[in-house]
Amino acid sequence: MLKLTDEDFNRLVAYMKKNYGINLDKKRTLIEGRLSNTVTQRGFKSFKEFIDFAFADKTGNETMQLVNKLTTNHTFFMREPEHFEFLKSTIMPQMEKENAATRTLNFWCAASSTGQEPYTLVMTIDDYLGAKASAWNVKLLATDLDTEVLKIAQAGIYTIDMLKDVPKQWMSKYFTKLPDGRYQVIDRLRKQITYKQFNLMDRIVAPRPYDFISCRNVMIYFEQETKNALIERFYDVTRENGYLYIGHAESVGKNTRYTYVKPAVYKKVTVKPDGAKPYAGRISK
Ligand SMILES: C[S@@+](CC[C@H](N)C(=O)[O-])C[C@H]1O[C@@H](n2cnc3c(N)ncnc32)[C@H](O)[C@@H]1O
Repeated sequence: MLKLTDEDFNRLVAYMKKNYGINLDKKRTLIEGRLSNTVTQRGFKSFKEFIDFAFADKTGNETMQLVNKLTTNHTFFMREPEHFEFLKSTIMPQMEKENAATRTLNFWCAASSTGQEPYTLVMTIDDYLGAKASAWNVKLLATDLDTEVLKIAQAGIYTIDMLKDVPKQWMSKYFTKLPDGRYQVIDRLRKQITYKQFNLMDRIVAPRPYDFISCRNVMIYFEQETKNALIERFYDVTRENGYLYIGHAESVGKNTRYTYVKPAVYKKVTVKPDGAKPYAGRISK
């Protein structure tokens, strides 16, 4: 494995933090492990040569490939199942009432990786709606920084071992077995999801506010200040009474405008039911 000089390590760490919020300052071995093969296979003699070349590429393709290698994309179906139980037991009944006029759901999964989270979300929604599903327009935007994982997500094809946590009855309902033995998410659900590359450091432009935003297990790589700013940008594009999910190992800043609901679940509540002052902090019973 090639070794990074302090200077090249610092350049990469600074680049990832500034542009993507990802803090790699304790991940020297990870960077060396992820990039060594690429550097040698592409005929560069050192990390320095490779980094100089990537940073000088005006098309942005080289840095994109570099970033794709440095993101951590670990994910799986039904991850943190309490979130999907809460979606089904509490959020969906509320959305069904509040969105009855338009019968549209506007969801955003903001670090979708290879698709397991957005698919678990649309499957949970579909399972909740049951026979009513055809009357609803379920729209889920799934974004990630990494262009390679977005391609995998879009295809929606998984091996059987990746599906071990998927409820048995969902296997026949939501997957088609392919001739090579892998499974693909059915077209009807794949069509509910729009995949797009999006860097969470960028300004968020939403044509209309989201009913629900999930941003799980990505902010662990961000510094507190970056996290706090991102959560407040999510708040601005969440509708009144809409929700934010974060990972259970993550936290929001003390001064967030979101109201705490339960671990890793937040809600945008600006006005108390009696029309009095906005909520501050936790919902009190
Ligand atoms: C560990 S995965 C989490 C996937 C899924 N949300 C889950 O909880 O299983 C983190 C994802 O965040 C993406 N990511 C990292 N930095 C990002 C950024 N600045 N903007 C958008 N996505 C980012 C990575 O590419 C990766 O796919």
